Amino acid sequence: MLVACKADNGVEHRETGEEMINNIISTLSLEEKVGQMTQINSVGPVNDDLRGMLQAGKLGSMLNEVDVKRINEIQRIAVEESPSGIPLLFARDVVHGFKTIFPIPPGLASTFNPELVKECSAAAAAEAWSSGINWNFGPMIDVVRDPRWGRIAESFGEDPYLVSAMGVATVEGFQGDDLAAENTLAASAKHFAGYGAAEGGRDYNTTLIPRRELHNIYLPPFEASVRAGVKTFMPGFNDLDGVPASGNSYLLQDILRGQWGFKGLVVSDWASIYEMINHGFAADSREAALRAFKAGVNIEMASSTYRDNIISLVKAGKIKESEIDRLVKQVLMLKYELGLFDNPYIPEKKQNVFADSATLMLAEKAAMQSVVLLKNNVLPLEKDSEIALTGPLAHQMYEQLGTWNFDGDSSLSVTPLMAMRELAGSDKINFAPGLRNSRSSDSKGFKKALNAAYNSDIIVFCAGEEAIITGEAHSRAYLDLPGAQNELIKELAATGKPIILAVLAGRPLTIGEISEYADAVLYAWHPGTMGGKAIAKIIYGDADPSAKLPVTFPVTEGQIPIYYNHKMTGRPVIEDEWVHINDIPEKAFQTSLGNTSHYIDAGFEPLYPFGFGLSYTTFEYSDLKISSPVISITDTLEICFVLRNTGKRSGTEVAQLYTRDIAASITRPVKELSGFKRVQLEPGESRKVEFLLPAANLGFHGIDLEYRIEEGEFKLWVGGDSNASLSTSFEIKNKL
Ligand code: NOJ
Repeated sequence: MLVACKADNGVEHRETGEEMINNIISTLSLEEKVGQMTQINSVGPVNDDLRGMLQAGKLGSMLNEVDVKRINEIQRIAVEESPSGIPLLFARDVVHGFKTIFPIPPGLASTFNPELVKECSAAAAAEAWSSGINWNFGPMIDVVRDPRWGRIAESFGEDPYLVSAMGVATVEGFQGDDLAAENTLAASAKHFAGYGAAEGGRDYNTTLIPRRELHNIYLPPFEASVRAGVKTFMPGFNDLDGVPASGNSYLLQDILRGQWGFKGLVVSDWASIYEMINHGFAADSREAALRAFKAGVNIEMASSTYRDNIISLVKAGKIKESEIDRLVKQVLMLKYELGLFDNPYIPEKKQNVFADSATLMLAEKAAMQSVVLLKNNVLPLEKDSEIALTGPLAHQMYEQLGTWNFDGDSSLSVTPLMAMRELAGSDKINFAPGLRNSRSSDSKGFKKALNAAYNSDIIVFCAGEEAIITGEAHSRAYLDLPGAQNELIKELAATGKPIILAVLAGRPLTIGEISEYADAVLYAWHPGTMGGKAIAKIIYGDADPSAKLPVTFPVTEGQIPIYYNHKMTGRPVIEDEWVHINDIPEKAFQTSLGNTSHYIDAGFEPLYPFGFGLSYTTFEYSDLKISSPVISITDTLEICFVLRNTGKRSGTEVAQLYTRDIAASITRPVKELSGFKRVQLEPGESRKVEFLLPAANLGFHGIDLEYRIEEGEFKLWVGGDSNASLSTSFEIKNKL
């Protein structure tokens, strides 16, 4: 926005946004400045306290208010009745949808389709915007290697490259091309940084991440989000190697603003400034406020250490007013970019854009591409098969939406039961859930489920976790199917009827043993509003499964952390030398057995590797070629290969490229995802697939933490998962 004003010499000057904000700041009292750094939770209907705060200009933003009429009322008081007239920011966690719920982020990541994720984010933004929201607390771009951690359900998984791609897509989808336009929201990259490494998978726990690991694994998605123009950042609840993220100047100043040049604002997490007292990083709320302020946190969410202390800290000479001005300016610039000074109100008539048919179709498409086929001997089914539909998640309109479903309208949900009845006819589906919910151990319903099985050709068992046992503060130490699900599955298997296991869950579960009883396994995550339809269409072959796992599945909890891009170790596994605990001879000499990095009981393989997922057809990779065996650090390697559909159905493969730096100045992962592409092929069809690999992407943060690309030999693989075997080598040389 440009505002016309006459300078002293009478020449008209178009005021830039920055000048306008500077002018506003010059008129603000200290109290009003602190107000802009204050964010409170919704209080429901406007009460006297809130009105007083607004009229005095002591509130800059609010979270969790989604009543558009009330938002407009609050905005009106701020704009018309406060001295400065500054509008508020209204924030919400729109993590995977608003009224229409898309698959949870691990499901979205399983699509390996950033374009689709961008579309879903844009659709969610439009729904939230029409409710008065202008700021989303997402994307969550923590790299997560521990399925015990409940918040893996909010994440895009374990791989920095995939998390970056999905994070960027989400930022672009939410923010659009013009933040001031309708239907766009400011995004927030969270939780900066390392929160996904919570020790033992216990939420809010300490994170101990060596700096190089921080830079090479945990920070890349955040840096990518800055490059994508994300407007806000949120530090995590975690204590990162002794310094809680909300008071961490290394993260928030040196890296974020210094190295990456981030110009936006930082909002604390919920009471995370105050919680630095619990961490033992601040003696009291005054010290907590000072530490967060000095680290550059612009807005305090929920707690009041800023409100209670900043003014006295200024008076005591600990904080300069110019420092406050700098932080307030970043808040006001966001309001300016959102166009709030021009258009503070949301048109109330726009409310009813929720869940229109295009959005529901998008939710169905996303769910379809997010369901991972892990095992298959029977699918797809004929529609005239007589089916026993059972399991606690077969008809749970709310549960299939998953965590962070504040606003989702569960009455819109299409469950597997509803969709299978619709597709095959009600008379073909014998429904008996067997268990009331996923945690139930009450076997009262088993009999009905078994009867349904006896009277059917095939069993579809919808297993998994309810939404509430996933997500924030819902870490689990046992990762098997909860309640009596395994017992029921075993009893059903004893009927001799084939079983299809459809798992709706917020995390990788240790389903290895129980999968032995199943003839097919679909991993649907929490698939959202249209999840049942997606599952049913895949079961009947109206849609082809194409998803791939964004995270490694462990055989057992004892293998955690287990992730594909691990280091080699000095004694990598030699498959032939591995001896199972039961086969170790008595009194065997310690070193006579394969002394490599493995478990003698759980082995060395995961249940399913990163990137894995089956299709109803099969694919063959061949003819791998590269543009040159030697490239310079400024070159881009061209990689091409032939992908062929060798089966009898059309299908979509997510072709994946992995690389490895064979010897470097620090040890490097055994394999790293460096590219992926979804390729749709008809039966028998072959296509040449190309990847471009800039040498610049093959660097890393070295001993001195500086980013470097080193000369030497690299290996690359292409294939359908992280066990890809078609490979070749090339060399990077500084001068050719
Ligand atoms: C706490 C969570 O950690 C964060 O992700 C979320 O944005 C805030 N609460 C606000 O709901």
